[in-house]
Amino acid sequence: MTDPDLTQAALDARARAHAPYSRFQVGAALRTIDGDIITGANVESASYGLSCCAERVTLFKAMTDGHSNFTAMAIASPGGAPPCGACRQLLAEQAPTATLHLIDSDNPESTTETTTQTLLPNAFTGDQLPSDD
Ligand code: THU
Repeated sequence: MTDPDLTQAALDARARAHAPYSRFQVGAALRTIDGDIITGANVESASYGLSCCAERVTLFKAMTDGHSNFTAMAIASPGGAPPCGACRQLLAEQAPTATLHLIDSDNPESTTETTTQTLLPNAFTGDQLPSDD
């Protein structure tokens, strides 16, 4: 199922990317269980390894604003790139049942739908870590 508002929010967020090194701008938008939308974009550093993808910026923004239950994420980039491995891990932990809409920013009508579970099956989620008791 498409979510036009979420798609537009990811496209708008992409304009706020800080990507002077790669020039690959990515925008993301998360839909919460309450219907809210939280957006983010990739932020790059002159020390390249410190850069952060749009998906993680968005997840961190949402989490630290008090949101914890996410139903979908739209991700807008040239060609509709899928999330990197690090972002798949964070999505598996924080948005395990989310639908992911991959949007080609050059042709926003062209979207691919997938899920966190499809992109990272059998994820390590921390359930195996020892508990306090
Ligand atoms: N990037 C994202 O923001 N999300 C992805 O899914 C793939 C890559 C960013 C990281 C870096 O700022 C730029 O795109 C080039 O890799």
